Amino acid sequence: MTLTEPPVHASGRPTTPWSWYSDPGILDLEMKRIFHRSWQYAGHLGELQGPGSYFASVCGPVPIVITLGDDGTLRGFVNVCRHRGAIVATGAGRRGTIQCPYHAWTYGLDGCLRAAPRGADDPAFDAERLGLAPVSVGTWGPFVFANPDPGAEPLAQALGDLPAVVAEHGLDVDALRFDQRFHYALNANWKIALENYLECYHCPLNHRTYVEVIDERRLELQAAGRRASQIAPVDPRSLEGRGPIDAHGELATAQFHLWFPTLKFNVLPGHPNLSIGPLWPTGPATSAGFLDYWFADTTDQAWIDALYTLDTRVGAEDTALVEAAQRGTSSGLVERGWVLGGAETLIGHFQDYVRDRLGLDAGAD
Ligand code: FES
Ligand SMILES: [Fe+2]
Repeated sequence: MTLTEPPVHASGRPTTPWSWYSDPGILDLEMKRIFHRSWQYAGHLGELQGPGSYFASVCGPVPIVITLGDDGTLRGFVNVCRHRGAIVATGAGRRGTIQCPYHAWTYGLDGCLRAAPRGADDPAFDAERLGLAPVSVGTWGPFVFANPDPGAEPLAQALGDLPAVVAEHGLDVDALRFDQRFHYALNANWKIALENYLECYHCPLNHRTYVEVIDERRLELQAAGRRASQIAPVDPRSLEGRGPIDAHGELATAQFHLWFPTLKFNVLPGHPNLSIGPLWPTGPATSAGFLDYWFADTTDQAWIDALYTLDTRVGAEDTALVEAAQRGTSSGLVERGWVLGGAETLIGHFQDYVRDRLGLDAGAD
């Protein structure tokens, strides 16, 4: 996929049609052309328990299982039983095999079907043809990514300059330790949620505390390939004891990256910290996601707690905003809106990406 690089402060233009936020036909296309063929964050290496272990996860809307063979090979499979479709693995384990809880078909960590009770009674049964479907897997530091397309381009190539940009702004992903995962669900289309993520135009009015941490007026927007980034200097109030967190620390800037289609990568100023995770559609007008939080070993708990309090508040504020936008755009009486030039340039970049992946003409360009 190639994207036309927009000037970082492009002119405004009409949005893609609002019907795309609730149309089941668009969701079908998005599943086939985006979610079944894209790299997505699936968890981290700490979820494995050494050779011979596995953990169940998701690759967006696709249930997957990540395995680490006895020989140290990392693999991934669609976590769907080839018998009658049950979810095979749940949670994590170190058993050397994975057994489906429905009728006990048992798979190796290489995906091969090893045992099926009474399989020998069926003359047409061929275990060789009934292994788990493989997916592509890759790692970046401690992070595990998967792509349901087994022939996907390598992760490192797909990531492009994202790891370099993250490091350039002071974050060493290998020096982080996993802290907690938070799941969430939204009554909003996945694109509405991500478009909200891509602009801070709404921040002064809706995130009064947040803008005491990042200087939203000096936000730098970057669009490069699949990466849409917002880099912000710290707001002086958080250095003067007047913000929700103390932003003194190793990181002088905030960085927020959306790596298309759905990876959110958030770093606040202060001590080393990261929240990372995917978002995916659960229906034409609903979505779900999770965020994994990471900190440096040396970061004290009070600072971490203050960051969680801030993020919980911002999350609640954003949920209300995107769910209201979902209700509004679903009215059917207004065809489309306007992407503002300047502050909302990254939304235009994202809408181009979606339109190109779907192979549709959004009209009104
Ligand atoms: S559905 Fe998995 S063993 Fe029957
Ligand atoms: Fe927001």
